[in-house]
Amino acid sequence: MTSLFEPITLRGLTIPNRVWMSPMCTYSATGGHPEDFHLAHYAARAAGGAGLVMVEATGVLADGRISPFDLGIWDDEHVASFARIAAAITAGGAVPAIQLAHAGRKASIGKPWLGGKPVAHADGGWDTLAPSATAFPGYPEPAAMTEKQIAGVVEAFAQAARRAHDAGFQVAEVHAAHGYLLHEFLSPLSNTRDDQYGGSLANRARLLLEVIDVVRAAWPADRPVLLRVSTTDWTEGGWTVEDTIQVTRWAREHGVDLVDASSGGLVPATIPDTRDYQTSIAARLRAEAGDVPVGAVGRITDAAWADELITTGQADVVLLGRALLDDPSWPNRAARELGAQPRFLEQYAYAVPR
Ligand SMILES: Cc1cc2nc3c(=O)[nH]c(=O)nc-3n(C[C@H](O)[C@H](O)[C@H](O)COP(=O)(O)O)c2cc1C
Repeated sequence: MTSLFEPITLRGLTIPNRVWMSPMCTYSATGGHPEDFHLAHYAARAAGGAGLVMVEATGVLADGRISPFDLGIWDDEHVASFARIAAAITAGGAVPAIQLAHAGRKASIGKPWLGGKPVAHADGGWDTLAPSATAFPGYPEPAAMTEKQIAGVVEAFAQAARRAHDAGFQVAEVHAAHGYLLHEFLSPLSNTRDDQYGGSLANRARLLLEVIDVVRAAWPADRPVLLRVSTTDWTEGGWTVEDTIQVTRWAREHGVDLVDASSGGLVPATIPDTRDYQTSIAARLRAEAGDVPVGAVGRITDAAWADELITTGQADVVLLGRALLDDPSWPNRAARELGAQPRFLEQYAYAVPR
């Protein structure tokens, strides 16, 4: 029986445990560059015992950022500032990972703690792109992308992956969830194209698979590439778990090493108010999507339950979001609670009784 604090090996990389930090935007970057804040923020979660620390959604293009304050890696000049973050995570004993993203029609939004409204051009905002000219409710209408613009996004993911690897990240995650660009192509609610990128499921998944191919090609063969998906739009006529199972099978064939099972974000929707609203879908993917490792995420705050998700085979890893904002040492605390070894750095371990 595998437990939360056992390592997991994906390709040639062994990750010390199965409690990972979920990617979370902090809206604190300047020109895409991480700041001292990011260094302190990610280093603390690494030292707190997470096996893998995932740097938040990082724009592969400047206009692919959710906000003007998001991280971005669209230029070779970003490599050095990201290298500091990857090194700090590594020094804390965790595996450094980065989420590569394009925000599509949900780009150019302000900081959530200031209301999270669309940002005007005068305030540093920009026009948004999407598969079709259909707005997210309350946001400006995006322009439907040309095939040339689509090819540009694919190339941007390739270059971003190359830069992320140069910066020292060991794991790359393709962000295809939460109503951002790749999810917008997948869902029939936001993709009404009639070319090779719209219509059938295979056509709507075409961009995602092209992105996976170029990221995989830019990433070392012995290092993992992960995929974050929204498993459902929680809306009649939208993206479904069945669609996700099929696309997960294709993604696996294209070299994805783990599927990180989130949900929602494409349109406003009512989400079930249960603890396992999302982890139960991860369990379904693990059972029905073939031989692919699965990450469960969402409302995981309890160590015993997190362990149970692993020991009962519902997921291979858990990703924690808000619990790790609340307590950077959640993993080490959970290890103690479960009778496992906290992952103390040698600088602390000799001084603190276990
Ligand atoms: C402040 C905040 C920022 C987030 N930013 C991202 C992000 O950059 N990329 C992403 O895929 N999910 C993002 N999420 C979603 C989280 O990764 C996670 O899936 C979600 O919060 C559910 O997990 P939790 O209940 O443990 O917080 C964010 C969530 C929060 C709370």
